[in-house]
Amino acid sequence: MPISNKNSGKKLAINGGGRAVSIPRPHFIWPPKSNAAEKKELGDQRDKDISIKGSSGPIRELEDRFKSFLKNKVKYAITYNSGTSALLAAYFALGVDEGDEVISPAFTYHATVSPVFVLRGNPVLVDVDAETWCIDPSKIEEKITKKTKVIVVNHQWGHSADMDEILKIAKKYSLKILEDCSHAHGSKYKGRMVGTFGDIAVFSLQANKMLFAGEGGILVTNSSEYHDRATLFGHYRDRSRDEIKNKFYQQFWFTGYGLKLRMSPYNAITAIYSLQQLRNRIVSRKRCLKYFIEKLSQFSEITVPLIAEYADMGAWYGFKPLYNSGKFHNIPREKYIQTLAAEGVDVKEPQSDALSRLPLYTIKDDKMFRDRSRKHVFKAGDFPVAEKLASSALSLPTFTEWPESKKIIDQYVDAFQKVHDNYRELL
Ligand SMILES: Cc1ncc(COP(=O)(O)O)c(C=O)c1O
Repeated sequence: MPISNKNSGKKLAINGGGRAVSIPRPHFIWPPKSNAAEKKELGDQRDKDISIKGSSGPIRELEDRFKSFLKNKVKYAITYNSGTSALLAAYFALGVDEGDEVISPAFTYHATVSPVFVLRGNPVLVDVDAETWCIDPSKIEEKITKKTKVIVVNHQWGHSADMDEILKIAKKYSLKILEDCSHAHGSKYKGRMVGTFGDIAVFSLQANKMLFAGEGGILVTNSSEYHDRATLFGHYRDRSRDEIKNKFYQQFWFTGYGLKLRMSPYNAITAIYSLQQLRNRIVSRKRCLKYFIEKLSQFSEITVPLIAEYADMGAWYGFKPLYNSGKFHNIPREKYIQTLAAEGVDVKEPQSDALSRLPLYTIKDDKMFRDRSRKHVFKAGDFPVAEKLASSALSLPTFTEWPESKKIIDQYVDAFQKVHDNYRELL
């Protein structure tokens, strides 16, 4: 518990006092602005080719560079127009079909597993670990049935899931592993890059991500069969004709399986530039958040993000310390957030929630698909850890400029301190 009286007696901003944070907003802008070279290349691409039907130009360049980024531990990389599209293609490639069950963490961004519904599969949720926020391996086996086909993991906020335990279970029951690495570009598990453990891995490149295209996703795999099926699913015509090796699947090159999900070359160019800067940004973001964590860990009402020994944070997509109202005079999170926000802190409730609180996962008769009588649905209370995390987290900026961000982090810490010292005003 920090003992500082420098703020006591100062009126909280929510009650009409001055603000602890004097630097005007925005305090965090993402994605970062383009440089002159990126702008020029985007302009030049306009007159070269604005619809790449095969995999040439910036599309090929991005895919090749991404494989190098993963230390060439994956044989194939295929771009898509979003992470969600890439996930759908991944489930298709893995053969998820009507009635198949896919085991997923109960806390994740929904698109980790929602595409399974399109294939008429059946997501089965498993609670997460209270420290890592990732799927809890000790709760997976009890959810496995004869219909289980895939375990999907999400490396939540950039923290790797416990892959050894998960791979053991997958092997024991002959299940496929899909890694959703949308938060975790550059994160590692026991020194090895995430995205290289599963049968397939997918990375969203949407604008908020540390590696961003604007809209986009990339699927990686070492399996020629999954490559062919994933290509056919989203890249009909030229790319399917040129790249599908399996003679049987090759027959369908002209139509694919009915969808076109390819990335625009503009997005690929932006992603290439973002990839070139990713390593430096990771170093800098880690430096900022390490400093922020050190400072926040003084407050007994805050539990700072914990990083397991086996994990190396890469992208660190979200910074979500937990607020414990029980340790702060039972002041509710909503009030605590409002109070900090009034002091000038850019703080919110996280947008992601436990999936067991979203209609797609709770309404049985969703009227969208045939035979939903067998749909698994969930209810509040089913996943206590996921729900507790969702109900107690604070969403704060993932500052990325070091040492430039130090000043704003210091002001944020002053705001936390001021609220801490003046809690009586909130009772
Ligand atoms: C964990 C996770 N999976 C999947 C997605 C979906 O990616 P996209 O927005 O590129 O479709 C996101 C996007 O935020 C995500 O955070």
